[in-house]
Amino acid sequence: MKTLFFVLFFTLAFINYAQNFQLPKLNYEFNALEPYIDEATMKIHYEKHHQTYINNLNKALQGQDVTNLSLEDILKNVSKYSDAVRNNGGGHYNHTLFWEILTPQKNTQPTAHLKNAIEKQFGSLDSLKNLMTQKGLSQFGSGWVWLIVNSEKKLEVTSTPNQDNPLMDVVKTNGIPILGIDVWEHAYYLKYQNKRNDYLQNIWNVINWEEVSKKYEKIVPKGIFDDWSAIKEFHKVMSSTFHPSEEGDLEPIKKRSQELLDKAKSLKTSPIPNELKSKVNMATLDKLIKDCENVHKLVKSKAKDSEIIKALNQAHDTFHEIVGQCKH
Ligand SMILES: [Fe+2]
Repeated sequence: MKTLFFVLFFTLAFINYAQNFQLPKLNYEFNALEPYIDEATMKIHYEKHHQTYINNLNKALQGQDVTNLSLEDILKNVSKYSDAVRNNGGGHYNHTLFWEILTPQKNTQPTAHLKNAIEKQFGSLDSLKNLMTQKGLSQFGSGWVWLIVNSEKKLEVTSTPNQDNPLMDVVKTNGIPILGIDVWEHAYYLKYQNKRNDYLQNIWNVINWEEVSKKYEKIVPKGIFDDWSAIKEFHKVMSSTFHPSEEGDLEPIKKRSQELLDKAKSLKTSPIPNELKSKVNMATLDKLIKDCENVHKLVKSKAKDSEIIKALNQAHDTFHEIVGQCKH
């Protein structure tokens, strides 16, 4: 009876505390990435290596109260856990991401939003690929090469040894990974043997850029005006004249009232993206042009500052009406 009580007690204790991580579903067949990643490698990598990280992670977390924590939460504070949690938690997270960013679909492309960010940071998609390939080659021993979004929301390439990753509080360069390439020998040895360079050159054929873009846009959402350059131009002039006027400085608007009016007019003549066309009320655009005309007229006639401020406030309010319409 006593033994039964203890068995029950400990079972309940573990049920309460144990976090039970499981192997995620693979969305393609083991042979789907041929000829770039072979079937045998995929099968062993997924069924054996990844499963082992999960088993060892669940074992390492037994008895610890982590039920309400996600794997990401644990990794962000991994210095507080054992090496087994660091290695196997990293192994589980890294491989889960790896399966997601691979695809049998050929020629997937980053979205315009991600492509712009890549070009801004690295020059071109090819330069990014070269940089990651070089990083992967120079990673001594086992590890990973990453494309991350850092705390400034910028893209950055980094690498980590073993099963560490950029989420961990024990690595030098932190960020959220959106693309990770496994450079452990178990990821390529059966097909490529010691030729890590060939593996790294070939893997680009099966990278799922749509998924990488999705991960990027979750962290850095596309702005509502990203496809309407005329309103971005208008906003630049509006913000650099309106905000100083709030502080009592009317010099910027006095110098740029004509420019503000021109940018307002070009909102109607420039191509409005279809997505926004249906939302933006043309009458509000006309109102904005009228408001800006009024500001310019007052500036030209050297009206009182208080009148210019009032007119600029009105134009600013109308601009925000347009912003509001775009958001719905
Ligand atoms: Fe691996």
